[in-house]
Amino acid sequence: MSKLLQSYDMNGTLLANRVLMAPMTRSRTQDTVPDAKTALYYRQRAGAGLIVTEGSQISIEGTGYLFTPGIHTPEQIKGWQAVTKGVHEEGGKIFIQIWHVGRISHVSLQENGAAPISSVDEPAHGCTCFGYDESGQPGPVPLSTPRALTKDGIARVTTDFVTAAKNSMEAGFDGIEIHGANGYLFEQFINAGCNNRTDEYGGSLENRLRFTLDAVDAMADAIGSSKVGIRLAPYGRLHDMHSFDDEENTWLTLAGKLTERDLAYVHLSDQESLCNAAIPKDFIRKFRNAYKGTLVIAGSLTQETAEELVNSGVADLAGFGRPFISNPDLVERFRNNWPLTPFDPATFYGGGDEGYIDYPVYRESVDDEVRAG
Ligand SMILES: Cc1cc2nc3c(=O)[nH]c(=O)nc-3n(C[C@H](O)[C@H](O)[C@H](O)COP(=O)(O)O)c2cc1C
Repeated sequence: MSKLLQSYDMNGTLLANRVLMAPMTRSRTQDTVPDAKTALYYRQRAGAGLIVTEGSQISIEGTGYLFTPGIHTPEQIKGWQAVTKGVHEEGGKIFIQIWHVGRISHVSLQENGAAPISSVDEPAHGCTCFGYDESGQPGPVPLSTPRALTKDGIARVTTDFVTAAKNSMEAGFDGIEIHGANGYLFEQFINAGCNNRTDEYGGSLENRLRFTLDAVDAMADAIGSSKVGIRLAPYGRLHDMHSFDDEENTWLTLAGKLTERDLAYVHLSDQESLCNAAIPKDFIRKFRNAYKGTLVIAGSLTQETAEELVNSGVADLAGFGRPFISNPDLVERFRNNWPLTPFDPATFYGGGDEGYIDYPVYRESVDDEVRAG
């Protein structure tokens, strides 16, 4: 059997195979509370070795998009409990991606119309988020100018992350994935092209990594390091992230520091399909050498390229995003060499059941054709 389809011990969490469903925002949550359809959507995809949920905000302040779920209220925890129960009943494992967007936000999403927070008081240029426009209608809106977090503010956001991590355990998740990628809050500190602070959270590499590593430690202390994963996007360019002088060294140093922390995994997000920014291949090898724990790689993979990554030891787990939307039984299709249903970007975000919970598994679709024919 192909190694990709074999079981894997992820620092104590046993996965049925090495195929990970990558986190994907679906923007279908009313009032930020996961509902029965959310539960059905994830249950349908429980054949993944590990599901990572859509980004879920740790606080109102962490919100950048309407109709995304949270993990900071009792109602949200209860909604997620039904999701984790469903996935576990199908024999799957599920982590929640916990998210603070930082400056990728708008005053209409913030409590009392406050300015969003970031490492800096500079907005991300040329970007939008999804809030309420001037006439109160939901839609893409230009980003509001953020305020730079004070040291007390950084401590408070770290506490919000810890509370979200504990809430995630109460919701029955097998672990959490910290969203450290795609130009959101942690990257706004790590990226020297963005972070121009002059205190101990900016400037030197050690300072730029401080918030991320302190937050990782605080969450690991709260729920156990083996339940904490983190997603990173080295060389990522989403949301006004730019190249900077010691870019390679920044990510490789972080890889070493994360190895010391004995986490569930590190998940690299290749943004080639999102904004044409691929992680250089030779860098991935270097990262693999620098990071000794479980490494996940996601972005534009096929079964073939995923098998290459896993067989060669470059990655331990292979992440698939869009193929999982249109193929709830993706792993079974890999196992049987069944063809994949193409995904439809028009139904990625928002809308109803179509493109969300109505994709059939392969057997059903074949049976339907037989019946129809
Ligand atoms: C509809 C959609 C929503 C996404 N939402 C998230 C998200 O919430 N968090 C995240 O880290 N990445 C998100 N991504 C990126 C995916 O996790 C993945 O890295 C990307 O789709 C590339 O993998 P693929 O080529 O297998 O789709 C999203 C991608 C898509 C297509």
